[in-house]
Amino acid sequence: MKLIEGKTIADIVYAECAREFEALKADGHTPGLAVVLVGDDPASRAYVGSKERKCQELGMHSVKIEKPATISQDELHAVIEELNNDDAIHGILVQLPLPDGLDEDEVILRIDPAKDVDGLHPVNIGKLAMEDPTGFAPCTPSGCQRMLVESGIETSGRNVVIVGRSLLVGKSLALLMMGKGEGANATVTVAHSRTKDLAAVTREADILVAAIGIPKFIGPDHVKEGAVVIDVGINRIDDPTAKKGSRLVGDVDFEAVAEKCEAITPVPGGVGRMTIAMLMANTIRACRLRQSRDS
Ligand code: GUN
Repeated sequence: MKLIEGKTIADIVYAECAREFEALKADGHTPGLAVVLVGDDPASRAYVGSKERKCQELGMHSVKIEKPATISQDELHAVIEELNNDDAIHGILVQLPLPDGLDEDEVILRIDPAKDVDGLHPVNIGKLAMEDPTGFAPCTPSGCQRMLVESGIETSGRNVVIVGRSLLVGKSLALLMMGKGEGANATVTVAHSRTKDLAAVTREADILVAAIGIPKFIGPDHVKEGAVVIDVGINRIDDPTAKKGSRLVGDVDFEAVAEKCEAITPVPGGVGRMTIAMLMANTIRACRLRQSRDS
């Protein structure tokens, strides 16, 4: 069994980012990312903190905008509008989920598609479906694909089963992997909560992607001998033996499944690492695209 480590592959992406960053700097441009955090969900706060740290490490311009959960829809739209008009900002990310009462789709619609480095605006989802390379793909799916490519795992003609149909992961990853590029050309099945005999479907997978958000849901019965398993889940579970009283686990029962796999991603230290790396790459590309448009 081979462990596909997010850090090693994220470092390849960061090395590319650093090169492109230097080239932009030499041309007088500094990529800028704005992250909008609404409310005080601890997991969201932790993700936003890691994004900010990474921006600082790379030398990027980084803005964190924090708003209370009581913010109105219109006030949040005004925040987005201001960032759309701010020339120092090339990428905007609104941390999801938003607190109850706020309409996420309406907020995402307000983001300038050229700054939508999260790849969730309908224009970018459309470009993903059309395989138009000027769009931005969502970061977690593109991170999964990059992990496969960098690990030398063949995807062309192979059966990929994705469990989970969210736009943020499952549905977007299906579009990426059925496409024609590198790390694609796969035969893709998307399974979800209404799928009948899920284990029979997932056992057909050469590459199985778990993106359901249920701790350790995927067990050995779901996995074919010699499959590659990509675990997108990041779930915090109680663990009295852990220092914090809790720990992170994936959607895959790693201990039970790992020995059956050709390769598997760990949690933590797997896909999660890639999401931030792809966000940085998208932001740097957004800066380059704007600079090419303006010149
Ligand atoms: N929440 C969990 N993952 C993501 C992500 O990739 N983007 C945003 N905006 N929110 C998230």
